[in-house]
Amino acid sequence: MENTIASLIDPAFPLVSNLSNAAAVLGTMPNINWAGFYLVDEAHDRLYLGPFWGEPACILIPLGKGVCGTAAALGKTVIVPNVDEFEGHIACSAASRSEIVVPILVEDKVVAVIDVDAPVLDRFHSDDKALLERIAAIIAEVWR
Ligand code: SME
Repeated sequence: MENTIASLIDPAFPLVSNLSNAAAVLGTMPNINWAGFYLVDEAHDRLYLGPFWGEPACILIPLGKGVCGTAAALGKTVIVPNVDEFEGHIACSAASRSEIVVPILVEDKVVAVIDVDAPVLDRFHSDDKALLERIAAIIAEVWR
């Protein structure tokens, strides 16, 4: 999957185009119902919805709120085996049962997160974390 994303994206292309194709590939992960990007809006201390695969989702998430805002504020991957047990989880889709959020860091600053939701409990483990962190690093290289 990371090879496919690496072969599709290019710093010569607009960021939104690169993220759109990356989201389409992320959407091929087995047993998920949503995959996409939230981008950091530093001026307003929030994240806004970027390109994604899946149903329409929440547009704005305050930094520090929800799984996405928490991962962005920490600059660390957050795995939530059961979204009902994560205080402050933002339910964009009633179908989502577990979730992983991986920050994209450029020069040590979080510029966006990758968010993937699954319709089953406990879908995401260390192999998914490693894969998505490699993908985040590949995307960081074309960030502009
Ligand atoms: N559940 C996320 C919100 C984004 S949707 O899952 C697409 C959260 O708690 O931040």
